[in-house]
Amino acid sequence: MSFAKLALRWVDDRFPLSSFLKNHLTEYYAPKNFNFWYFFGSLAMLVLVIQIVTGIFLTMHYKPDASQAFASVEYIMRDVPLGWLIRYVHSTGASMFFVVIYLHMFRALMYGSYRKPRELLWLFGMLIYLCLMAEAFFGYLLPWGQMSYWGAQVIINLFAAIPFVGPDLAVWIRGDYVVSDATLNRFFAFHVIAIPLVILGLVTCHLVALHEVGSNNPDGIDIKKHKDKSGKPLDGIPFHPYYTFKDLVGVVVFLMVFTLIVFFAPEMGGYFLEYNNFVPADPLKTPDHIAPVWYFTPFYSILRAIPPLFGSQFPGVIAMGLAVVVLFFMPWLDRGAVSSIRYRGVIYKSWLASFVISFLILGYLGVKPTSVWGQFGNWLDGADRAVVVARVCTASYFLFFFLMPWYTKIDKTKPEPERVTS
Ligand code: HEM
Repeated sequence: MSFAKLALRWVDDRFPLSSFLKNHLTEYYAPKNFNFWYFFGSLAMLVLVIQIVTGIFLTMHYKPDASQAFASVEYIMRDVPLGWLIRYVHSTGASMFFVVIYLHMFRALMYGSYRKPRELLWLFGMLIYLCLMAEAFFGYLLPWGQMSYWGAQVIINLFAAIPFVGPDLAVWIRGDYVVSDATLNRFFAFHVIAIPLVILGLVTCHLVALHEVGSNNPDGIDIKKHKDKSGKPLDGIPFHPYYTFKDLVGVVVFLMVFTLIVFFAPEMGGYFLEYNNFVPADPLKTPDHIAPVWYFTPFYSILRAIPPLFGSQFPGVIAMGLAVVVLFFMPWLDRGAVSSIRYRGVIYKSWLASFVISFLILGYLGVKPTSVWGQFGNWLDGADRAVVVARVCTASYFLFFFLMPWYTKIDKTKPEPERVTS
């Protein structure tokens, strides 16, 4: 017996390595019809690793202290060998994480991947999404630039809009009456250790749930219904080597795009790194235009679209929270006879299209200052025009979910095939 085999047997007698690789790779049967949309799960894992590794190196030189944080980031950019590269990979990784995750979630909407028996898989995914938002929000305060400071100020002040407990809650979150050194320290702790640990745990649960029920596929049908004599799904292929190599192609193409951004457009025109954040935080000078980074802007627009009640922003805050929370309920809102968009009728397709278009328009409006909200059409005065557009999109965003139990039921679906198509 070769040395490698002996070593493997030694390990296997003490740790289930071979059986693990078998169960999750070489004998894990995935549908044979995965397409482009199935790249994004493995890419999300790749970006998670990139963020953790670059984050560790940034932490070696970053100073979580309000009087030193900004300068320490400049030091990383100018003096630490390859510090600029590590920082740009980390900041680009943050935006690319959301690009990948939004495409990953959209795939689930298209193919009904959240439906029975994948409800828990979806819920774990949604918890990951919440954690990613928290992670990005906490991380954004760390460079201690104007946008870091005032962005955090605006978002934490939203909590102050909650009746009765709000103002105390905001002080409790900040650890001070304004965003300060105490806030920076706790955000640092959450960003570098607490949330990443939770995300890693949730991703493990996400994958365990996935392997328990098996992957969905672009036809949205169950491949376990048709098995050969040895119990292997007829429409399944072993994850390794087929999908490990397919995913490798996705990784190479993704890294090409990623490096192009890192080397040629790390700021991405102010979308990945806002220009105002190259100015040190100044608690005495509010910037003219405070906007969150692009991945939060659809929700920010929903907040701005809802009018205040008795001078309180609370209704907008509730709407913004609801816009995320409602996604958790997808598995129970969808009553359609089929899972995949391929066999859905025109009603579902139209609602999904209007949801996506509304999300994109809300995202676009969210990066624009309120003064620019007036540029759309000429059927109302000033900023009101954009408010109207934002309100229509907000309504269509929510109606997609609220009317789903009804329109998925009456939608005229096509019959699903018995076996997967090409
Ligand atoms: C760190 C973030 C995440 C990682 C690393 C991750 C990883 C993965 C991987 C590797 C797969 C299997 C490959 C694939 O289907 O693409 C998968 C499937 C899935 N993920 Fe995620 N995911 C993440 C976030 C999310 C989020 C935010 C959601 C939605 C809320 C989600 C929902 C799903 C669903 C429904 C599936 C099954 C898809 C199917 O079988 O058609 N995931 N995920």
